[in-house]
Amino acid sequence: MFTPPLEQILNLAQLRELARDVLPRGMFEYVDRGTEDEVLLRENRDAFERIRLRPRVLVDVSGRSAKVKLFGKELSLPMAVAPTGAAGLMYHNGEVEIARAAAKAGIPFSLSTYSINSMEQVADEAGGQLWFQLYMWPDRAMSHQLVARARSAGYEALITTVDTPTGPNREYNARNGFSLPFHINRHNVWDLAAHPRWLFGVMGRYLATSGMPRLENLPDALRHSLAAKGPKRPQLPKSDSLTWQDLREVRRIWDGPLMVKGILHAEDARMALACGADGVIVSNHGGRNLDCAVASIDALPEIVEAVGHRAEVMLDSGIRRGSDIAKALALGAKAVLVGRAPLWGVAAAGERGAARAIAILADELDRSMAFLGVPSLDALHCLQRSGHAANWPINPPSKGSAP
Ligand SMILES: Cc1cc2nc3c(=O)[nH]c(=O)nc-3n(C[C@H](O)[C@H](O)[C@H](O)COP(=O)(O)O)c2cc1C
Repeated sequence: MFTPPLEQILNLAQLRELARDVLPRGMFEYVDRGTEDEVLLRENRDAFERIRLRPRVLVDVSGRSAKVKLFGKELSLPMAVAPTGAAGLMYHNGEVEIARAAAKAGIPFSLSTYSINSMEQVADEAGGQLWFQLYMWPDRAMSHQLVARARSAGYEALITTVDTPTGPNREYNARNGFSLPFHINRHNVWDLAAHPRWLFGVMGRYLATSGMPRLENLPDALRHSLAAKGPKRPQLPKSDSLTWQDLREVRRIWDGPLMVKGILHAEDARMALACGADGVIVSNHGGRNLDCAVASIDALPEIVEAVGHRAEVMLDSGIRRGSDIAKALALGAKAVLVGRAPLWGVAAAGERGAARAIAILADELDRSMAFLGVPSLDALHCLQRSGHAANWPINPPSKGSAP
């Protein structure tokens, strides 16, 4: 298969096509698709596309900058890599590769609880600003061990994901024989064999070095309980008994910035702050969990209104263009997270592919800012999606000038 030079990849849609060529179908669909009828997957895009921005002209934007401060740290872009389970199956050491790209781009990388590379390996080999994403299991003590590990490995912030109380109904995974932990089975063996670049370049490299790729952050006790074989193979435990008390407990044991991911309701955002969170991530999990949920971008304004003045409000689900980032910021988000974009990139070309995904979004955001007439992200927050731009802060008329 011919991969064009990455500079010829002009947008995320093209990167996605490259990922489709390389990955076994089961893996590509695991990344790409939604849940059930995939209504929310479409709605996440439709909701962004319905939003129009009203540009201002004749503003000096020559010194524009998309830098932003989040939890007291400067980011080169208002963007972080979202946690995505099993990114290490898309490329050999995929999590390390994406984290390196994020570090070089000056943005945070979030490592999923369900990553292939261990949190220690990612910290040692990639560095940069690292956030750890925590899924909680019914055995809370096991989850709390992960928090302690994340702290000793140097992770700077913790994301607690709260929108996955049970396993989502992703029918394509069942058809494709894709599961986490990953197993080779009669449903996927031909699919894997039909993708030699992945088979030798990813699976082959793992088998020749560290063995069958596993979810390396799982505590040993959980790994053992998942080790049974056969049709009744056990699944990852469900966390359907979590409550706000569990969040308070995480707050007690984690002293760094704490984000709650998967918030779509203003009252839940208030509750998260009352339990000690420093930020919320408005997210519907990229349309992968509850198919009838609201688009994150539609839920954003009421959440910004409820807690935006006292917490960092971030958003993900459906970002495919830099102008989507501009829209999210115009509606009050401080920053966005991107999930599939870096996964398509890493599948296509490892660290360079992930870097290309980030660079495409950065370039598109920069152009959007220029066209909108906003030299800084603060100015973007004041843009309205329609109607008038109230309290416009740029170049206020100097005293004595004509109105
Ligand atoms: C393949 C894949 C795996 C994911 N795994 C996790 C995960 O382990 N933990 C989590 O909090 N979110 C997970 N997510 C959701 C992302 O963090 C994020 O919310 C979503 O991808 C954002 O939407 P986007 O892909 O349209 O950018 C996953 C998403 C994808 C695509």
